[in-house]
Amino acid sequence: MCGIVGYVGPRPSQEILLSGLARLEYRGYDSAGIAVIDGQGDLGMRKRAGKLSVLRDDLASHPLADGTTGIGHTRWATHGGPTDENAHPHLADDDKLAVIHNGIIENFAELKAELESAGYAFRSQTDTEVAAVLLGREYAASGDLVDAFRATVTRLEGAFTLLAMHRDQPGLVVGARRNSPLVIGLGEGENFLGSDVAAFVEHTRHALAIGQDQIVAITPEGVEVTDFHGAVVEVEPFEVTWDAAAADKGGWRSFMAKEVAEEPEAVANTLLGRIRNGVVEIPELDGLDDLFAGITRMVVIAAGTAAYASDGHVGKYAIEQWTRVPVEVELAHEFRYRDPVLTPETLVISISQSGETMDTLMAVKYAREHGAKTLSICNTQGATIPRESDAIVYTHAGPEVAVASTKAFVAQITALYLLGLHIARIRGALSPSEISQSVRELEAIPAKIRKVLDTETEHIAQLSHWMADTRSVLFLGRHVGYPIALEGALKLKEITYIHAEGFAAGELKHGPIALIEPGQPVFVIVPSPRESALLHAKVVSNIEEIRARGARVIAIAEEGDVAVLPKADEVLRIPLAGPLFEPLLAVVPLHLFAMGLAEAKGLDVDQPRNLAKSVTVE
Ligand code: AGP
Repeated sequence: MCGIVGYVGPRPSQEILLSGLARLEYRGYDSAGIAVIDGQGDLGMRKRAGKLSVLRDDLASHPLADGTTGIGHTRWATHGGPTDENAHPHLADDDKLAVIHNGIIENFAELKAELESAGYAFRSQTDTEVAAVLLGREYAASGDLVDAFRATVTRLEGAFTLLAMHRDQPGLVVGARRNSPLVIGLGEGENFLGSDVAAFVEHTRHALAIGQDQIVAITPEGVEVTDFHGAVVEVEPFEVTWDAAAADKGGWRSFMAKEVAEEPEAVANTLLGRIRNGVVEIPELDGLDDLFAGITRMVVIAAGTAAYASDGHVGKYAIEQWTRVPVEVELAHEFRYRDPVLTPETLVISISQSGETMDTLMAVKYAREHGAKTLSICNTQGATIPRESDAIVYTHAGPEVAVASTKAFVAQITALYLLGLHIARIRGALSPSEISQSVRELEAIPAKIRKVLDTETEHIAQLSHWMADTRSVLFLGRHVGYPIALEGALKLKEITYIHAEGFAAGELKHGPIALIEPGQPVFVIVPSPRESALLHAKVVSNIEEIRARGARVIAIAEEGDVAVLPKADEVLRIPLAGPLFEPLLAVVPLHLFAMGLAEAKGLDVDQPRNLAKSVTVE
């Protein structure tokens, strides 16, 4: 859950490192630091608790000699609080070696005891410094940074991406990864390392993603990848499909505002290239027809917002209805601890925006180790979870920087629907005309989301200002609206820090209605009266029940639904759509509301407290 950057080449490295870290701050922002081997061959280092701006200010007032070899780090604290001493880089070998780390070294305590008994002293409480001191000891013995790395990483347990450089070997940065991300940027006479491609996309879009238990050495002349035993490894290159501008705010007041506005494109781009003549054909899945024909069960695993994309009846209901294959939905962090039944005919589908969520990654590994087939729906090329999966369907939402996931959420539902229709075609479970009917619904979604944004953004901004002092908000939904109620509650919690809870509307009278008191705001996702008359009537009576107890009801209802008008205090309108496709529209007002309320409270919408964009520890 940290951001790391490395650079070797002809240019001064400090600004390259700092601008790379700025694009990685969403991975953690408790503290930041850089280390540089300067023109005199000295190793300089500066690190500060707080956001990257604190480090920048410090460097401006106390400049560090620049140099063309450097590493940089922005941290989300795991071992040791966010202090200057615990910030990375950590130095060793008489401060001639600098190390940065992303992950958790699970056996650091015993290694630290071993080193302390050998007379080594420590300046921080971090697991990273233990790795640095261990590496320093190995380097002092071998004099070769790559060999020292190999001797070191084979003793570490847990999840780590480590970068290091040594004063005696300028022009060389070495990295290693296990269960944590690391990608390589290939430049002209210069090379880069990063937690993800945002670290270097402004300099190059040519990239390599190294695999599990591999070591990479970069110099201005080239890149060498070896496994932990020293064997050279061939690595697949890939092209980054978005540019640096896409990773910037582009003039928006926040990344979240930019990303909510990009929700239509996120859906449209995820559909691109996957629909031919009204039929879904996902190119990345070519050659896997037998796999999909043979499955007898699907299990969808994810965490947080990604879980809601598949939760309840959205992903599950659609895929089961279309493919006639039973679909279960499981929180990734629960999955492997319940000893699930898995067979070669089970397809475990993971959903992850970052592709680095440790809970989800460990669940995928567990599934594979127990014989299931695995498919990853992911938004980050070259990420770890896709690389651990048998098949991949990338969402093309573009970089999602705000911690609160929005455009990736609608892209994940879109990818799940494409997958369901793709499998239904292969299994003959739907006719071409049935598939093309759903395809037409999907293809109409970007314009419909755009319409919600155009017609309701101002209304919702006013609503959130009126509600700025709210202390609690409830969300009700039924059927496919239920996971949207959960998502609306999560969004509100994570960026406004107020209590919010989502319920299945039918659950109300079994307890939650006790929460209703005069003035209690309740968002209600109302099913279509055209498509689900019975459910619509039940939800309208739920609204009457809570209004009778003083609730303030904000209804999300389709255009033309007049029955809801006298029942609700506010009505937010969404265009008509088939029941399975309504969630893609109903979630948009909830994203806008959470963002508006956070702004009304003057909070940091993009980097909410206690959170990070990618939870790469269990
Ligand atoms: C969503 O707004 C949250 N930031 C969080 O729940 C997130 O969805 C979850 O941590 C999963 O992340 P992933 O999609 O990168 O795996």
